[in-house]
Amino acid sequence: MAKHLIDPTDLSKEELEEILDLGQKIIDNREKYSEVCKGKKLATLFYEPSTRTRLSFTSAMMELGGNVLGFSDAKNSSVSKGETCADTTKVINCFADIIAMRHFEEGAAMVAAMNSKVPVINAGDGSHSHPTQTLTDLLTIKRELGRIDNITIGFCGDLKFGRTVHSLIKALSRYEGVKVVLIAPEQLRLPDYMKQEVCEMNGVPYVEVDSMEPVIGDLDVLYMTRVQKERFLDEDEYDRVKDFFILDASKLKNAKKDMCILHPLPRVNEISTDVDSDPRAAYFRQVENGKFVRMALISKLLEWSKDPTKDSQLVPEDAVRGKYVCRNKRCISNIETGVESIFRPALDKPGEMRCLYCESKPQTRENS
Ligand code: NCD
Repeated sequence: MAKHLIDPTDLSKEELEEILDLGQKIIDNREKYSEVCKGKKLATLFYEPSTRTRLSFTSAMMELGGNVLGFSDAKNSSVSKGETCADTTKVINCFADIIAMRHFEEGAAMVAAMNSKVPVINAGDGSHSHPTQTLTDLLTIKRELGRIDNITIGFCGDLKFGRTVHSLIKALSRYEGVKVVLIAPEQLRLPDYMKQEVCEMNGVPYVEVDSMEPVIGDLDVLYMTRVQKERFLDEDEYDRVKDFFILDASKLKNAKKDMCILHPLPRVNEISTDVDSDPRAAYFRQVENGKFVRMALISKLLEWSKDPTKDSQLVPEDAVRGKYVCRNKRCISNIETGVESIFRPALDKPGEMRCLYCESKPQTRENS
């Protein structure tokens, strides 16, 4: 057993704060942490393209004095021969002390964790979740604004497929006085489960709008996102929405002087380069914070995994096995063989169930 990070809520608020504090301590005294992971190995298993996240993990482990192995393209791994995520994880357990996995199948990191004795970090699973980007975003908000509580944050762009948005909203729902403004065209709105199970359940007020100008003056943080082209099944649909929001210097005139602009990157054209020189543009500082917070995460997960009381409880006691089928075609339970269907009770609606891997509802006759 080990302590994993599959979803931002796997960390208690105290653990989250411990990681953010350690991230800041590392920034203040990098030398002190340069041998914390001496003799340890991180495996980066990236089945989907990535520049920042993979290199950020690599650089984080190197700065901690550890080593890195792995692959950056599924074509170079045994997956191309048909190996399952579960088997690959068991194999990598023989080589590495900790795993960071990015996968296009939703729930892949959960399956990896269920088959791993070493900590698994979800570095992005389909459009579901991306908890280490969330740690990056939280540390950046804290460093830019001096607080995470009592902020109004606007999420703009692809709120439907943007996994960084889903994870950050979940994490922010644990802070006091956070208000959320969802800025997206109809086709790219935040999924219902996020609105109900995350915002409404936790008393996070949110509004949905389809243009940025009327709300920009209210925001402490503007979180821009790329329209996730790779998740669209219909290219015409992507073309219709891809240029819906473009932030340029002129739109910032009505924004607060100390608002901070975040973007998980890569950007396509949703932030014009004339914004880059604005002191509020924090997206490149955000990248650097990502390395420090990943250093903090790796060291904490390795430390916590020595303590059995910290072991992740991946499958809740009230989970139901083998009874339902997930309605999400991108869910690993519908793609890979040998992945048992597991559902847990929904937090928001008594009697409703959610897939353990991707949080979708079960199939019914109408949507199957
Ligand atoms: C994001 C991702 O992969 O979800 N990028 C990242 O990890 N920094 C955002 C994106 O790809 O748009």
